Amino acid sequence: HKHLLGIESLRPDEITTLLDLADQYVDLNRRDVKHSDALAGLTQINMFFENSTRTQASFELAGKRLGADVMNMAMQASSIKKGETLIDTAMTLNAMHPDLLVVRHPHSGAVDLLAQKVNCAVLNAGDGRHEHPTQALLDALTIRRAKGRLHRLNIAICGDIAHSRVARSNIILLGKMENRIRLIGPPTLMPSEISAFGVEVYEDMEQGLKDVDVVMMLRLQKERMDGGFIPSEREYYHRYGLDADKLAHAKDDAIVMHPGPMNRGVEIDGEIADDINRSVIQEQVEMGVAVRMAAMDLLAQNLRANPTVEV
Ligand code: CP
Repeated sequence: HKHLLGIESLRPDEITTLLDLADQYVDLNRRDVKHSDALAGLTQINMFFENSTRTQASFELAGKRLGADVMNMAMQASSIKKGETLIDTAMTLNAMHPDLLVVRHPHSGAVDLLAQKVNCAVLNAGDGRHEHPTQALLDALTIRRAKGRLHRLNIAICGDIAHSRVARSNIILLGKMENRIRLIGPPTLMPSEISAFGVEVYEDMEQGLKDVDVVMMLRLQKERMDGGFIPSEREYYHRYGLDADKLAHAKDDAIVMHPGPMNRGVEIDGEIADDINRSVIQEQVEMGVAVRMAAMDLLAQNLRANPTVEV
Protein backbone atom coordinates (compact mmCIF):
# COMPACT_ATOMS: atom_id res chain seq x y z
CA HIS A 1 0.00 0.00 0.00
CA LYS A 2 1.10 3.57 -0.68
CA HIS A 3 -1.07 5.06 2.09
CA LEU A 4 -2.78 4.01 5.31
CA LEU A 5 -6.21 5.60 4.95
CA GLY A 6 -8.43 3.02 6.63
CA ILE A 7 -8.76 -0.56 7.85
CA GLU A 8 -11.23 -1.21 5.02
CA SER A 9 -8.43 -1.76 2.50
CA LEU A 10 -6.28 -4.07 4.67
CA ARG A 11 -6.35 -7.87 4.42
CA PRO A 12 -6.20 -9.98 7.60
CA ASP A 13 -2.66 -11.18 6.76
CA GLU A 14 -1.53 -7.56 6.30
CA ILE A 15 -2.98 -6.68 9.70
CA THR A 16 -1.07 -9.60 11.24
CA THR A 17 2.19 -8.56 9.54
CA LEU A 18 1.83 -5.02 10.88
CA LEU A 19 1.05 -6.23 14.40
CA ASP A 20 4.02 -8.62 14.35
CA LEU A 21 6.35 -5.74 13.43
CA ALA A 22 4.71 -3.55 16.11
CA ASP A 23 5.49 -6.26 18.70
CA GLN A 24 9.18 -5.83 17.83
CA TYR A 25 8.86 -2.07 18.29
CA VAL A 26 7.28 -2.58 21.72
CA ASP A 27 10.53 -4.33 22.70
CA LEU A 28 12.63 -1.49 21.23
CA ASN A 29 10.57 1.14 23.09
CA ARG A 30 11.21 -0.65 26.40
CA ARG A 31 15.00 -0.47 25.97
CA ASP A 32 17.19 2.28 27.43
CA VAL A 33 18.16 3.40 23.93
CA LYS A 34 15.02 3.59 21.81
CA HIS A 35 16.40 4.13 18.35
CA SER A 36 16.30 2.61 14.89
CA ASP A 37 17.08 4.13 11.52
CA ALA A 38 14.12 2.67 9.59
CA LEU A 39 13.04 6.20 8.55
CA ALA A 40 16.52 7.78 8.36
CA GLY A 41 16.68 10.44 5.68
CA LEU A 42 12.89 10.69 5.40
CA THR A 43 10.75 13.69 6.30
CA GLN A 44 7.49 13.29 8.23
CA ILE A 45 4.99 16.14 8.53
CA ASN A 46 2.15 15.96 11.05
CA MET A 47 -0.94 18.05 10.21
CA PHE A 48 -3.63 17.98 12.89
CA PHE A 49 -6.71 20.06 12.04
CA GLU A 50 -8.44 18.73 15.17
CA ASN A 51 -7.24 18.43 18.77
CA SER A 52 -5.17 15.43 19.80
CA THR A 53 -2.98 14.32 22.67
CA ARG A 54 -2.26 10.61 22.13
CA THR A 55 -2.24 10.34 18.34
CA GLN A 56 -0.18 13.47 17.75
CA ALA A 57 2.38 12.70 20.48
CA SER A 58 2.77 9.06 19.48
CA PHE A 59 3.18 9.78 15.75
CA GLU A 60 5.81 12.38 16.62
CA LEU A 61 7.69 10.04 18.97
CA ALA A 62 7.35 7.15 16.51
CA GLY A 63 8.93 9.19 13.72
CA LYS A 64 11.75 10.45 15.93
CA ARG A 65 12.55 6.99 17.30
CA LEU A 66 12.84 5.73 13.72
CA GLY A 67 15.21 8.54 12.75
CA ALA A 68 12.89 10.64 10.53
CA ASP A 69 13.03 14.43 10.36
CA VAL A 70 9.69 15.24 11.97
CA MET A 71 7.83 18.52 11.61
CA ASN A 72 4.60 19.35 13.42
CA MET A 73 2.48 21.92 11.61
CA ALA A 74 0.79 24.21 14.11
CA MET A 75 -2.50 24.35 12.23
CA GLN A 76 -3.95 27.04 14.51
CA ALA A 77 -1.10 29.33 13.41
CA SER A 78 -1.16 28.29 9.73
CA SER A 79 -2.53 30.13 6.70
CA ILE A 80 -5.69 27.95 6.91
CA LYS A 81 -6.83 30.81 9.17
CA LYS A 82 -6.40 33.19 6.22
CA GLY A 83 -8.72 31.16 4.00
CA GLU A 84 -6.28 28.75 2.32
CA THR A 85 -8.00 25.47 1.43
CA LEU A 86 -6.96 22.07 2.76
CA ILE A 87 -5.77 21.03 -0.70
CA ASP A 88 -3.73 24.21 -1.26
CA THR A 89 -2.11 23.75 2.14
CA ALA A 90 -1.34 20.12 1.33
CA MET A 91 0.06 21.02 -2.12
CA THR A 92 2.26 23.67 -0.50
CA LEU A 93 3.70 21.16 1.94
CA ASN A 94 3.97 18.57 -0.85
CA ALA A 95 6.28 20.96 -2.72
CA MET A 96 8.70 20.68 0.21
CA HIS A 97 9.10 16.92 -0.57
CA PRO A 98 7.88 15.21 2.58
CA ASP A 99 7.85 11.40 2.52
CA LEU A 100 5.15 10.81 5.14
CA LEU A 101 2.17 13.03 5.83
CA VAL A 102 0.12 12.31 8.98
CA VAL A 103 -3.28 14.01 8.83
CA ARG A 104 -6.21 14.40 11.21
CA HIS A 105 -9.24 16.30 9.94
CA PRO A 106 -12.79 16.90 11.23
CA HIS A 107 -14.40 15.95 7.88
CA SER A 108 -14.94 12.33 6.83
CA GLY A 109 -13.13 11.69 3.54
CA ALA A 110 -10.83 14.74 3.77
CA VAL A 111 -7.71 12.61 4.26
CA ASP A 112 -8.55 10.35 1.27
CA LEU A 113 -9.03 13.45 -0.88
CA LEU A 114 -5.72 14.89 0.23
CA ALA A 115 -3.94 11.58 -0.48
CA GLN A 116 -5.04 11.84 -4.13
CA LYS A 117 -3.27 15.20 -4.50
CA VAL A 118 0.17 14.59 -2.98
CA ASN A 119 3.14 12.42 -3.94
CA CYS A 120 4.05 11.15 -0.48
CA ALA A 121 2.58 8.44 1.74
CA VAL A 122 -0.44 9.64 3.75
CA LEU A 123 -1.49 8.21 7.11
CA ASN A 124 -5.00 8.89 8.36
CA ALA A 125 -4.84 10.03 12.01
CA GLY A 126 -8.66 10.26 12.16
CA ASP A 127 -11.12 11.81 9.70
CA GLY A 128 -14.53 12.87 10.99
CA ARG A 129 -16.59 9.84 11.91
CA HIS A 130 -15.08 7.75 9.11
CA GLU A 131 -11.87 5.94 10.17
CA HIS A 132 -9.02 6.02 12.70
CA PRO A 133 -6.97 3.09 11.42
CA THR A 134 -3.95 3.32 13.73
CA GLN A 135 -6.29 3.40 16.76
CA ALA A 136 -7.93 0.13 15.66
CA LEU A 137 -4.49 -1.41 15.04
CA LEU A 138 -3.21 -0.39 18.48
CA ASP A 139 -6.41 -1.73 20.04
CA ALA A 140 -5.91 -4.99 18.15
CA LEU A 141 -2.31 -5.28 19.37
CA THR A 142 -3.42 -4.61 22.95
CA ILE A 143 -6.12 -7.30 22.71
CA ARG A 144 -3.76 -9.81 21.07
CA ARG A 145 -1.13 -9.35 23.79
CA ALA A 146 -3.67 -9.51 26.64
CA LYS A 147 -5.70 -12.46 25.31
CA GLY A 148 -3.03 -14.33 23.36
CA ARG A 149 -5.12 -14.24 20.17
CA LEU A 150 -7.14 -11.89 17.97
CA HIS A 151 -9.91 -14.20 16.78
CA ARG A 152 -13.03 -15.88 18.21
CA LEU A 153 -13.32 -13.33 21.04
CA ASN A 154 -16.56 -11.76 22.27
CA ILE A 155 -15.98 -8.03 22.11
CA ALA A 156 -18.39 -5.33 23.32
CA ILE A 157 -18.07 -1.78 21.98
CA CYS A 158 -20.14 0.50 24.19
CA GLY A 159 -21.61 3.99 24.02
CA ASP A 160 -21.56 6.59 21.27
CA ILE A 161 -21.02 4.34 18.26
CA ALA A 162 -22.74 6.68 15.79
CA HIS A 163 -20.16 9.47 16.00
CA SER A 164 -17.10 7.29 16.51
CA ARG A 165 -14.42 6.68 13.89
CA VAL A 166 -12.70 4.52 16.52
CA ALA A 167 -15.74 2.23 16.68
CA ARG A 168 -16.02 2.09 12.90
CA SER A 169 -12.36 1.12 12.36
CA ASN A 170 -12.53 -1.39 15.21
CA ILE A 171 -15.72 -3.00 13.91
CA ILE A 172 -14.10 -3.45 10.49
CA LEU A 173 -10.80 -4.79 11.89
CA LEU A 174 -12.24 -7.09 14.54
CA GLY A 175 -14.80 -8.38 12.04
CA LYS A 176 -12.06 -9.19 9.50
CA MET A 177 -10.25 -11.16 12.23
CA GLU A 178 -13.43 -13.20 12.88
CA ASN A 179 -14.48 -11.98 16.30
CA ARG A 180 -18.05 -11.70 17.59
CA ILE A 181 -18.87 -8.04 18.03
CA ARG A 182 -21.63 -6.58 20.18
CA LEU A 183 -22.54 -2.91 20.05
CA ILE A 184 -24.15 -1.60 23.23
CA GLY A 185 -25.71 1.84 23.54
CA PRO A 186 -28.88 3.90 23.25
CA PRO A 187 -30.61 3.70 19.83
CA THR A 188 -29.98 7.44 19.36
CA LEU A 189 -26.23 6.74 19.37
CA MET A 190 -26.28 3.77 16.97
CA PRO A 191 -25.25 4.34 13.34
CA SER A 192 -27.98 4.07 10.71
CA GLU A 193 -25.91 1.66 8.54
CA ILE A 194 -25.71 -0.86 11.41
CA SER A 195 -27.18 -3.80 9.50
CA ALA A 196 -24.18 -3.72 7.15
CA PHE A 197 -21.76 -4.43 9.99
CA GLY A 198 -22.72 -8.01 10.92
CA VAL A 199 -22.84 -7.24 14.64
CA GLU A 200 -25.24 -7.85 17.52
CA VAL A 201 -26.89 -4.75 19.00
CA TYR A 202 -27.94 -4.28 22.63
CA GLU A 203 -29.65 -1.40 24.41
CA ASP A 204 -28.96 -2.83 27.85
CA MET A 205 -25.42 -2.95 29.29
CA GLU A 206 -26.01 -5.94 31.62
CA GLN A 207 -27.34 -8.09 28.78
CA GLY A 208 -24.76 -6.93 26.26
CA LEU A 209 -21.77 -7.45 28.54
CA LYS A 210 -22.71 -11.00 29.49
CA ASP A 211 -19.64 -13.24 29.07
CA VAL A 212 -17.63 -10.87 26.89
CA ASP A 213 -13.80 -11.04 26.77
CA VAL A 214 -13.24 -7.40 25.93
CA VAL A 215 -15.15 -4.26 26.97
CA MET A 216 -14.35 -1.23 24.85
CA MET A 217 -15.78 2.06 26.15
CA LEU A 218 -16.25 5.22 24.06
CA ARG A 219 -16.57 8.91 24.87
CA LEU A 220 -19.76 10.87 24.11
CA GLN A 221 -18.49 12.83 21.10
CA LYS A 222 -20.52 15.98 21.57
CA GLU A 223 -18.41 17.89 19.04
CA ARG A 224 -19.92 15.70 16.31
CA MET A 225 -23.54 15.74 17.50
CA ASP A 226 -24.41 18.76 15.29
CA GLY A 227 -27.23 20.04 17.46
CA GLY A 228 -28.87 16.57 17.63
CA PHE A 229 -29.92 14.74 20.78
CA ILE A 230 -27.31 14.95 23.59
CA PRO A 231 -28.08 12.74 26.61
CA SER A 232 -27.71 14.14 30.13
CA GLU A 233 -24.39 12.97 31.61
CA ARG A 234 -25.99 11.75 34.85
CA GLU A 235 -28.62 9.68 33.11
CA TYR A 236 -26.04 8.39 30.66
CA TYR A 237 -23.66 7.29 33.43
CA HIS A 238 -26.49 5.52 35.22
CA ARG A 239 -27.47 3.48 32.16
CA TYR A 240 -24.26 3.17 30.15
CA GLY A 241 -21.32 4.21 32.35
CA LEU A 242 -19.05 1.23 33.07
CA ASP A 243 -18.93 0.57 36.82
CA ALA A 244 -18.13 -2.53 38.89
CA ASP A 245 -21.75 -3.75 38.87
CA LYS A 246 -22.03 -3.67 35.10
CA LEU A 247 -18.53 -5.09 34.58
CA ALA A 248 -19.45 -8.06 36.80
CA HIS A 249 -21.56 -9.38 33.88
CA ALA A 250 -18.48 -9.76 31.66
CA LYS A 251 -16.07 -12.70 31.98
CA ASP A 252 -13.93 -12.62 35.13
CA ASP A 253 -10.81 -11.99 33.05
CA ALA A 254 -12.40 -9.47 30.65
CA ILE A 255 -10.20 -6.49 29.86
CA VAL A 256 -11.44 -2.89 29.87
CA MET A 257 -10.36 -0.55 27.07
CA HIS A 258 -10.84 3.12 26.25
CA PRO A 259 -9.18 4.99 23.36
CA GLY A 260 -9.09 8.25 25.32
CA PRO A 261 -9.69 11.03 25.99
CA MET A 262 -11.77 9.69 28.90
CA ASN A 263 -14.60 11.43 30.69
CA ARG A 264 -14.53 9.86 34.15
CA GLY A 265 -17.96 9.59 35.69
CA VAL A 266 -19.67 9.85 32.28
CA GLU A 267 -18.84 6.70 30.26
CA ILE A 268 -16.53 5.07 32.82
CA ASP A 269 -16.02 4.97 36.58
CA GLY A 270 -12.56 6.32 37.49
CA GLU A 271 -11.78 3.32 39.70
CA ILE A 272 -12.40 0.87 36.86
CA ALA A 273 -10.24 2.95 34.53
CA ASP A 274 -7.38 2.84 37.06
CA ASP A 275 -7.76 -0.83 38.05
CA ILE A 276 -4.56 -2.40 36.72
CA ASN A 277 -6.10 -5.87 37.00
CA ARG A 278 -8.83 -5.01 34.47
CA SER A 279 -7.95 -1.84 32.60
CA VAL A 280 -5.45 -1.90 29.70
CA ILE A 281 -5.89 1.81 28.93
CA GLN A 282 -2.22 2.64 29.56
CA GLU A 283 -1.11 -0.37 27.50
CA GLN A 284 -3.22 1.00 24.63
CA VAL A 285 -1.20 4.21 24.75
CA GLU A 286 2.08 2.25 24.80
CA MET A 287 0.94 0.13 21.83
CA GLY A 288 0.04 3.33 19.98
CA VAL A 289 3.69 4.33 19.61
CA ALA A 290 4.73 0.85 18.45
CA VAL A 291 1.88 0.50 15.94
CA ARG A 292 2.61 3.91 14.42
CA MET A 293 6.30 2.97 14.12
CA ALA A 294 5.31 -0.24 12.34
CA ALA A 295 2.85 1.54 10.02
CA MET A 296 5.38 4.18 8.98
CA ASP A 297 8.17 1.58 8.62
CA LEU A 298 6.04 -0.53 6.23
CA LEU A 299 4.98 2.51 4.18
CA ALA A 300 8.62 3.65 4.00
CA GLN A 301 9.69 0.17 2.81
CA ASN A 302 7.08 0.47 0.06
CA LEU A 303 8.27 4.00 -0.84
CA ARG A 304 11.86 2.78 -1.11
CA ALA A 305 10.86 -0.25 -3.19
CA ASN A 306 8.62 1.81 -5.52
CA PRO A 307 10.13 5.31 -5.66
CA THR A 308 8.27 6.29 -8.83
CA VAL A 309 4.83 4.93 -7.91
CA GLU A 310 2.14 7.42 -8.95
CA VAL A 311 -0.70 8.28 -6.61
N1 CP B 1 -7.55 8.12 20.91
C1 CP B 1 -7.25 9.29 20.32
O1 CP B 1 -7.31 9.46 19.11
O2 CP B 1 -6.84 10.27 21.20
P1 CP B 1 -6.40 11.75 20.79
O3 CP B 1 -7.63 12.45 20.26
O4 CP B 1 -5.87 12.37 22.07
O5 CP B 1 -5.34 11.64 19.74
